[in-house]
Amino acid sequence: MSTSTRVREATADDWSGIWRVLEPALRAGETYTYPRDITEDEARTAWMLPVPARVLVAVDDVTGEVLGIAKYLPNHPGAGAHVANASFVVGQEAAGRRVGRALAEAVLEGAKADGYRAMQFNAVVETNERAVRLWRSLGFEVLATVPEAFDHPARGLVGLHVMHRVL
Ligand SMILES: CC(C)(COP(=O)(O)OP(=O)(O)OC[C@H]1O[C@@H](n2cnc3c(N)ncnc32)[C@H](O)[C@@H]1OP(=O)(O)O)[C@@H](O)C(=O)NCCC(=O)NCCS
Repeated sequence: MSTSTRVREATADDWSGIWRVLEPALRAGETYTYPRDITEDEARTAWMLPVPARVLVAVDDVTGEVLGIAKYLPNHPGAGAHVANASFVVGQEAAGRRVGRALAEAVLEGAKADGYRAMQFNAVVETNERAVRLWRSLGFEVLATVPEAFDHPARGLVGLHVMHRVL
């Protein structure tokens, strides 16, 4: 059964639900450059970032279960701080429910409202077709692909896309 999804600011109490979503993706090591043996504490530090970062969760409207997480923050400090960077993970059980799209739309809207001028993804694994397709459908383009920059556990050395969109 498909139910509706709500996107809201994450709180510290969301962490156990967030970790259930994050852990399989980080262990798989196919989409992010975190060490595959990252500890829960290290992951919490990396994702539950303080202001100026914003952390959002997508939750099931009925059960309140965390379905996905996103964060956005300045891609660089100081003179580069008007460009946002963002990261997303949706739980495997929620795949295909458009949770990723809902999170991305909320992040784009939030980042624009916060005054960012553009959004840049620094390291989109080129074999991550699902993500690349979603980002392209939301107006991002691949500016460049850094060759062999990602060591994929199954496919070996593959490229990392730098993707960008004006807000
Ligand atoms: C990438 C990710 C965030 C997408 O979230 P999702 O909730 O699964 O995606 P959605 O259901 O919103 O689908 C979004 C789009 O993906 C595309 N898509 C869905 N399933 C797909 C598949 N099996 N293959 C290719 N594209 C697919 C569709 O274009 C879909 O667009 P639509 O809304 O018009 O149907 C999610 O798969 C994820 O967390 N993956 C692991 C971590 C990751 O890769 N993060 C991003 C790193 S750049």
